[in-house]
Amino acid sequence: MITGKTALVGIMGDPVEHSLSPPMHNSAFHHLKLDYVYVPFHVKRGNLAPAIAGARAMGIRGLNLTIPHKQDVINYLDELDQAAELIGAVNTVKFTNDTAVGFNTDGMGAVKAIEEVTPVKDRKIIIMGAGGAARAISFQLLLAGAGEIIIANRTQKNACKLRDDLKMNFSLPVKCLGIGNDLTMELQDTDVLINTTPVGMHPHEDQEPMVTADKMHPALVVNDIVYNPLKTGLLHEAEKAGAKTISGTKMLIYQGVEAFRIWTGIKPPVEVFEEVLMRELGH
Ligand code: ATR
Repeated sequence: MITGKTALVGIMGDPVEHSLSPPMHNSAFHHLKLDYVYVPFHVKRGNLAPAIAGARAMGIRGLNLTIPHKQDVINYLDELDQAAELIGAVNTVKFTNDTAVGFNTDGMGAVKAIEEVTPVKDRKIIIMGAGGAARAISFQLLLAGAGEIIIANRTQKNACKLRDDLKMNFSLPVKCLGIGNDLTMELQDTDVLINTTPVGMHPHEDQEPMVTADKMHPALVVNDIVYNPLKTGLLHEAEKAGAKTISGTKMLIYQGVEAFRIWTGIKPPVEVFEEVLMRELGH
């Protein structure tokens, strides 16, 4: 029940109606009997400044930001945590005593999802794609102590632009490649392969994955951040090769779990996030 003391958190985006975050967070609040409610706010691009000012004025405790606000929101915050600053994007804001602090739990979510299966410290990791998700994940992996990162992208120059940004901040080996023979060579001694592109996403389930089973090895861990379908073409190929797989739902769960932790300071009920997400996706 909403009371006079209920704390308000929510998500601002355009579109926002398909977001799976409201059911995940509200179920977690209910499970722990926390007097919080999570609400979707449909905020168009030009309305972000008054929306954030309104959130501050109304004592909203926390926000998630999604498309198209993850970068613009930085203009209206007081502080950024280290990862958000490096990535240049914020998906989580915590409001306390007139201070708005920005975080990025997208990269954190992916790293947690991988660390459930294998440590990332000192590992060689290939990331396919060079967009916003690849950026968040690659910076967070380097912050977590990854040994070597390779950005492989359809348009190699976009991969090299991200490589340059990573190298400006970390003195670790980072390479940029196209999708081709070089990628096949690098895969031989790679520990983790992550797809951040929309290849294989519904309604294009039949699209040929960028890496097939013959190029994988059984000790490889393969993570696709696409969560619809749950088992993408890439994950089918990984199974064929005897590699371990991590579905895209895990990153979605852990980005929410980490936002919950930031807002409440309470250990999040991961199993509730997972149960609700699977139910919402019809699994
Ligand atoms: P996000 O911000 O969610 O990561 P994005 O910025 O649109 O998404 O990035 C999409 C990434 O997927 C890009 O790296 C894009 O490659 P290009 O730089 O060549 O555009 C990649 N991508 C999109 N569609 C693709 C396809 N059909 N095959 C291969 N890569 C694709």
